[in-house]
Amino acid sequence: MKTLIIYVSMHHGNTEKIARAIGEVLRADLAKPTEVDAEVISKYDLIGFGSGIYFGKHHSSLFCLIDKLPYQNGKRAFIFSTSGLRKIWLIHDFNKPLRSRLLAKGFEVIGEFNCRGWDTYPFWVKPFGGINKGKPSIREIEEARCFARMLKKLEG
Ligand SMILES: Cc1cc2nc3c(=O)[nH]c(=O)nc-3n(C[C@H](O)[C@H](O)[C@H](O)COP(=O)(O)O)c2cc1C
Repeated sequence: MKTLIIYVSMHHGNTEKIARAIGEVLRADLAKPTEVDAEVISKYDLIGFGSGIYFGKHHSSLFCLIDKLPYQNGKRAFIFSTSGLRKIWLIHDFNKPLRSRLLAKGFEVIGEFNCRGWDTYPFWVKPFGGINKGKPSIREIEEARCFARMLKKLEG
C-alpha cells in the first residue's frame, strides 16, 4: 500500500508531529500541498490529508489542491487534524468541509483522526501559555500510531 501524506502545519508544528507518527507506521511519503499534483497522487494507493484547524476547517491549500484534481474514482483517502477545541460530532465537526470536498472528488474516505494541539491563537489565552500546552503529547502520538495501524489492517 503506497501512501502519501499531504499536510500543513503552520501554527506550532502540532499536525506535523501527527503526520510523522502516522507516516512512520504506514511508511508513507510526506509532502506539502504545493509540492504535489494529479500525476504525483496517481502513483499512490492511499492519500492522507491533514492540517491544523483554522477558523473551523482544514487549511485552504488542501481545498485548492483537491479542486485542481481530476475525479478520483474511489481512490482511498484519510483525514487528520489537530485543533484547539474538541471535535463534537454534528455540532463542531470541522472535518466535514474537507470530507465533503474529498467525497465530491470521488475519494473514498476510510478513516479520520483528530486530537488537541497547542493553541495560542486567541489573544486571551496567550498570557497563560495558550491551551493544550504540550499537546500532542506522547499519548496523542500513540493514538495517531494506533489509527495508522487500523488503516493498515483495513488496507490488508
Ligand atoms: C489562525 C488560527 C485559527 C484557528 N482556528 C481554530 C478553530 O476554528 N477551531 C479550533 O478548534 N482550533 C483553532 N485553532 C487552533 C489550531 O487548530 C491548533 O492550535 C492546531 O493544533 C494547530 O496546528 P499546527 O500547529 O499544525 O498548525 C486556530 C489556530 C490559528 C493559528
